Amino acid sequence: MKILVTGGAGFIGGNYALTMVKKHPEDEYVVLDALTYAGNLETLKDVAGDPNFRFVKGDIRDRELIDRLFAEEQFDVVINFAAETHVDRSVEDPGIFVETNIIGVQNLMDACRKYNVRRFHQVSTDEVYGDLPLDRPDLLFREDTPIHASSPYSASKAGADLLVLAYHRTFGLPVTISRCSNNYGPYHFPEKLIPLMISRALADESLPVYGNGANVRDWLYVTDHCSAIDLIIRKGRVGEVYNIGGHNEKSNLEVVKTILKALDKPESLIHFVKDRPGHDLRYAMDPTKIETELGWKPEYTFDTGIQKTIEWYLNNREWWENIISGDYQNYYERMYRDRQ
Ligand code: NAD
Ligand code: DAU
Repeated sequence: MKILVTGGAGFIGGNYALTMVKKHPEDEYVVLDALTYAGNLETLKDVAGDPNFRFVKGDIRDRELIDRLFAEEQFDVVINFAAETHVDRSVEDPGIFVETNIIGVQNLMDACRKYNVRRFHQVSTDEVYGDLPLDRPDLLFREDTPIHASSPYSASKAGADLLVLAYHRTFGLPVTISRCSNNYGPYHFPEKLIPLMISRALADESLPVYGNGANVRDWLYVTDHCSAIDLIIRKGRVGEVYNIGGHNEKSNLEVVKTILKALDKPESLIHFVKDRPGHDLRYAMDPTKIETELGWKPEYTFDTGIQKTIEWYLNNREWWENIISGDYQNYYERMYRDRQ
């Protein structure tokens, strides 16, 4: 199979390419990525020389480039990881989220239709379901939970999901959608909670916890997300949505304290700051469908995954120190100065 992986220089798409290029030498992988602030070619260096891998720099919003690439490559499968992904940035500037996360998806699907791609897979998120109350642990997101997005980011992802399902119903485009809970692991950009806290704790800097830290996320080690997507593109039913998650609910404060303990740093580094506007309270996935239909199972618990992640950040300082020494400093200053 020839597989297009868009957004493959980012966190999850990068882990997907690194794993699958080696796991499936019989398949060809083309990574298309615009290399925005979140994309990093360093992430892909272990597969850069492999015969079944090719990198193309390009923007999914660019219809001409997409058309040329699809004509040239005749893809069998397209997996769309490319997106603007940080909720706080979507609060600051929603426009680019609509452009990339909705218009970009439309461009890809138009090309899939024109070149008879056998499967378009959209990588979506649990955030399209909105949030759950903190005091109802019995409630979980299922595939038939109504869409109810809270932030410009999650609204743009929800818009894309609706468009993907509409292309399936109206044009018969063979699509699948996966909605995953919060990922963590190697190559995670240090604007997101876990790598931000690890990198700041290592430098003995204050750790900005939004609100009272009671918000809950359902964490999944990134390669478990990748194995689920690999199963869906091979065995998933066309037109279906699959939830992905591993029942690892933790409050933000629990996550931050776990990191501090593992790094032997004091809890006095924790600094409660102004809350995120519209901050979702709790996410929790019900992955029964993918487990029973496709036999997917996560390999990592939160305890094993967070240890592996912390070790990776300790052993790969160059990767993240390069990021935080650049424009990231301006980002941190701009994003956090009004939260104090
Ligand atoms: P990321 O921000 O780390 O990476 C996004 C990648 O997309 C970057 O390499 C960036 O350069 C690229 N990109 C952005 N705009 C582009 C454009 N217009 N054209 C081409 N490339 C572009 O994101 P991530 O955390 O790896 O998320 C990947 C996907 O998974 C996203 O669709 C996200 O919504 C979804 N998702 C993420 C999580 C999570 O916890 N991180 C959970 C569920 C779903
Ligand atoms: O649930 C899946 C989603 O997870 C993905 O779709 C998004 O692309 C991804 O960014 C992530 O969104 P979150 O908003 O949950 O992730 P983030 O790492 O930004 O924040 C996790 C929690 O930690 C959230 O409750 C906000 C809080 N937080 C975050 C930062 C960056 C803090 O308390 N302090 C911080 O500095």
